[in-house]
Amino acid sequence: MWKSFSKFVVLSFVLTLSDVSCEKAPVVRTPLGDVAGYYMTTRGGRQISAFTAIPYALPPIGDLRFKAPVPINQWENTLNASTVSPVCVQRNPYTRQEEIVGQEDCLYLNIYTPTRNNDVSDTSLLPVMVFFHGGGWMCGDGTTGMYGPHFLLDRDVVFVATNYRLGPLGFLSTQDEHCPGNNGLKDQQEALRFIQNNIESFGGDKNSVTIFGESAGGASVHYHMLSENSAGLFHKAISESGTALVPWAEAAPGEALRNAFRLAKFLDCPQAPSENMISCLRTKDSYDIINTEFLFYAWDYEPMTPFKAVIEPDHPGAFLRRSPRKTPNVPAVPWMTGLNKDEGCLKSVWITSNTSRYNEFMSAFETIAPVTFYYENSPYAEAITEKIRQKYLNDKDESALKNGILEMYSDSYFAYPAVDAVEKVFSYTKNPVYLYDLSYKATNSFSQIFGDEEGDYGVCHADELMHLFPIEFLSKPFSPEDIEISETIITLWTNFATTGNPNKPVPVPFKWEPATSPSKMEYLEINKESVMKSDLGARSRFWSTLPLWYNVRGRKFTDDL
Ligand SMILES: *[C@@H]1O[C@H](CO)[C@@H](O)[C@H](O)[C@H]1NC(C)=O
Ligand SMILES: *[C@@H]1O[C@H](CO)[C@@H](O)[C@H](O)[C@H]1NC(C)=O
Repeated sequence: MWKSFSKFVVLSFVLTLSDVSCEKAPVVRTPLGDVAGYYMTTRGGRQISAFTAIPYALPPIGDLRFKAPVPINQWENTLNASTVSPVCVQRNPYTRQEEIVGQEDCLYLNIYTPTRNNDVSDTSLLPVMVFFHGGGWMCGDGTTGMYGPHFLLDRDVVFVATNYRLGPLGFLSTQDEHCPGNNGLKDQQEALRFIQNNIESFGGDKNSVTIFGESAGGASVHYHMLSENSAGLFHKAISESGTALVPWAEAAPGEALRNAFRLAKFLDCPQAPSENMISCLRTKDSYDIINTEFLFYAWDYEPMTPFKAVIEPDHPGAFLRRSPRKTPNVPAVPWMTGLNKDEGCLKSVWITSNTSRYNEFMSAFETIAPVTFYYENSPYAEAITEKIRQKYLNDKDESALKNGILEMYSDSYFAYPAVDAVEKVFSYTKNPVYLYDLSYKATNSFSQIFGDEEGDYGVCHADELMHLFPIEFLSKPFSPEDIEISETIITLWTNFATTGNPNKPVPVPFKWEPATSPSKMEYLEINKESVMKSDLGARSRFWSTLPLWYNVRGRKFTDDL
């Protein structure tokens, strides 16, 4: 019934006959109402339809602030989906943005589809790829300027990019029913529900949804793999440079409530009872709430992410009821995850490219390390700091020291959490786990916005994004080799979204084998010549030897509620 209805819907893409030059906007009839978009052209010259700024939830304002998203209602008139979607209230700490931007009414998504007019009449529905942006759950957006379809849509997929609430507006938790937490992740989940209900109208197959994301978006993807309420909303998953276990996304026991108390204090709200705290915070201007971010910093921009994913009290809407370190009670899906060779550049460039900041970091390492690596409240903080120093800063030579800073961030923030997560997933999945490490150095790099426009810091955090999306601000022209890598990555990602296997259906000139065990950790090194290697992130295993809270708790972990 639904199928035949959707066939009709797909066919109802408006088409003006014959005269292409005055072709009308594409209009799609969805169960919620009609949506009018516009045409775009991909890198390969394909004409596609774009539908931007589609609301998927009610504006989370007023009484709805700090609440789980409420699904959008049907609309009557044709929705104008050719506007630029607003961004959620934020200030970008990674680029050290000064001003606050965005609006609280920000729960919108963008849909791009190659199906248009009646040329889809005899094709089947296409795999859907849904992207969750990065930005430490503090910043970022799903706009076309950042995450456009120009590369992905050369292949037969439907692409969706979505916004979700950020910072305390998205991740505040009082650890009780008044604000259980994870609202940003619940927004993403609501977007996935919207996709289940509406994507067939855009030619997408709701039974083949791949979620993918980078950094905090990669962590988000992994959290959905652990969430009972997300089960069934997607079928494959790609986590780029971020898993649920990264220390900047997984709240340590007690951390969420401490930061809720601090937020309340900064805004002159009562800290208890939490009902009063939340109702007071609802009266504050959203920009004032985001403006407290600087007040959380102990040194420089550290700690960077005070508001993280939390384990919620048991209630029907809970996104996460148990530790991400436990075996989830949801079915596993095929998973692709990986790293860029020099991830830590995200943090290290700001430190090593500025002499006075570098000197501060080195001379006050005892106080800075526990903050930036999130073990401030550990009874073993001193011992941990000393071990980190010996591992990464045990050299006299300045360039070696600077490289040590890069490596400690790569390992702590990205590599070890990936290794740890893959090991845990291995203990219960029967699905393939594909691992990669990107070592191809492109003409552009995100280090250009992470503290030094000129220097060479290797293959930085976020650098794979430029191969997937035409990131507007990376201005140096692509070399032919850059384009070749981009085409390869587009093939691998869309293959995986299509079949769960990055090697098919579009052939690649190498074979990407899934990892076979936690000890072998076989991975594809993506470069001009991509090759299989083993032991992804080997150096980072050092972090498993430190008495960090999750290592200490180990198997005896009990939920902190
Ligand atoms: C839709 O919005 C765009 C951008 O704001 C505007 O240029 C266009 O005129 C609108 N279309 C309609 C039909 O209102
Ligand atoms: C270098 O770091 C210092 C100390 O953090 C800071 O005050 C200064 O503005 C930085 N200089 C530049 C050029 O960013």
